[in-house]
Amino acid sequence: MTLGILLVGGMGTRLMPLTRDTPKPMLPIAGLPVTEHQLMAAKRAGVTTIVLATSYLSEIFTPYFGDGSRWGINIAYAVEETPLGTGGAIKNAAAALNLPAGSDEPIVIFNGDVLSSHNLAKQIQEHIAHKADVTLHLTHVADARAYGCVPVDENGRVTAFLEKMENPITNTINAGSYVFHPSVIDTITANTVVSVERDVFPALVAAGKKIYGYVEDSYWLDIGTPAALLAGSQHLVGADFKVAATSQIAPTAQLSEGTSVGQGCTIEGGVVIRGSIICADVHIGAGSEVVNSFIASGTRVAANTKIIGNYYSNELISPLNL
Ligand code: GDD
Ligand code: MG
Repeated sequence: MTLGILLVGGMGTRLMPLTRDTPKPMLPIAGLPVTEHQLMAAKRAGVTTIVLATSYLSEIFTPYFGDGSRWGINIAYAVEETPLGTGGAIKNAAAALNLPAGSDEPIVIFNGDVLSSHNLAKQIQEHIAHKADVTLHLTHVADARAYGCVPVDENGRVTAFLEKMENPITNTINAGSYVFHPSVIDTITANTVVSVERDVFPALVAAGKKIYGYVEDSYWLDIGTPAALLAGSQHLVGADFKVAATSQIAPTAQLSEGTSVGQGCTIEGGVVIRGSIICADVHIGAGSEVVNSFIASGTRVAANTKIIGNYYSNELISPLNL
């Protein structure tokens, strides 16, 4: 039995207007919500029960994921009436795990906007072998300014946690997947806004707790910006395109560069789509061209419309309003 918490309550501000009606973790990557990819990765690593820590647009998750039986994983929900921050969300969600006092059961925690192919099972094993308080997946990026900087010593012990520095001291960053000993949850105050990155981790390091890095540079992406969301979907589609079974694509339409098309769409003749995410129930009129763009569910694109590098929420798009 391995327990998990998925942090999916953020506002997704950098992805507005795509996140106006859809929470960031429910945006599709290669035709499936980000959360669904994460649940499957968690399950592969042995996670059996996971709590979705929701807040913004919390009502969108439950109808889709239910009790998780479709995926063979138990799903529970912890809703924050007002967002409690990443640390407060962990505290709130942990209560739903009903852990017995004094438990040693590792708790795996994920940022809800990350695609990662790292070896989570190995991260958990190393955590147990080190008898660690926290084991963080760390990766490397070219520009660490938008992330948590996490220097480690020669034994892999974390020596500092520096969230979003203007002049990063290392390009080793927090990749947003943590294994916690349950006692760490006890250090977080309940029903209070707490940041795990700015409050909990620095306090644990200062207190000399055993915080380890699990460094792995496999495929990793935070999908929190429109460009990253598109790149993630293109990577995962891998081939030219992926189309949901209930969509109709005219034989003369051309789909390429990792385009994905969701359920219930109609793509008319002569349409060219490259490197784009087309959500569900979208209609694209004949002769239109869509390149490196995101078209939200329910959008109707008029015939002969050119959409290049754009991100649309649900609306009517025609050559007139571009
Ligand atoms: N339930 C809940 N409540 N979830 C929240 C809240 C909250 O108040 N605030 C944020 N989250 C969730 C978001 O939905 C997201 O899945 C995750 O927590 C991380 O929030 P982001 O807003 O995406 O943070 P970030 O990308 O700027 O930085 C974080 O991720 C980086 C890696 O991608 C930090 O953890 C960095 O240290 C890290 O490097
Ligand atoms: Mg993020």
